[in-house]
Amino acid sequence: MATFNGTIILLLSLASVAILAAGKEPTTRLHFYMHDKISNPNATAVRVAEGPQTSTGPGINFGDIYVVDDLLTTGPSPSSPLVGRAQGFYAMASQDPADVALMLTVNLVFTEGEYKGSTLAILSRDAIFSPVRELPVVGGSGAFRLARGYVLMKTYSFNQTLGDAVLEWDVYVMH
Ligand SMILES: *[C@@H]1O[C@H](CO)[C@@H](O)[C@H](O)[C@H]1NC(C)=O
Ligand SMILES: *[C@@H]1O[C@H](CO)[C@@H](O)[C@H](O)[C@H]1NC(C)=O
Repeated sequence: MATFNGTIILLLSLASVAILAAGKEPTTRLHFYMHDKISNPNATAVRVAEGPQTSTGPGINFGDIYVVDDLLTTGPSPSSPLVGRAQGFYAMASQDPADVALMLTVNLVFTEGEYKGSTLAILSRDAIFSPVRELPVVGGSGAFRLARGYVLMKTYSFNQTLGDAVLEWDVYVMH
């Protein structure tokens, strides 16, 4: 019983420390759109490795890897004001055609505004057919040093002919 009480007290103190620590950190909310343009001209996402043809889906092979330097803009149109770029890669990492998922690893590089020069690091599973995906924010630099948080990401539009997608990002980050 003594041990049980001790554990409860320890957990309560850890919870208070977490709350105090959280209180000191600003939480920033960011909202923007990512343009995953695989079509030419001016593709910003290029397939650099192609997996063997499988039943994953049309144009989607388990093992495909794309490197991206996608635009991040304030609005859903690619010509709306630029916020930064999403630089990194994604790999088709699920073999289940009913649950197509990418491993998405990108740095968000802010090039305009208050967070110009700062970055956020995203390391996530992206189940592309889910209406909302939660992406972990695993770190950052500059204003976002020691950042942690999450993103709620939705597919805003997808052009099946071209394969181009516009993704809406809602970012919640503590730093
Ligand atoms: C491609 O990029 C060039 C150079 O920036 C630009 O002039 C042209 O309008 C772009 N084309 C499209 C379709 O975006
Ligand atoms: C996809 O892009 C093509 C070429 O720009 C365009 O003609 C077509 O209307 C687009 N489809 C959708 C559903 O937006």
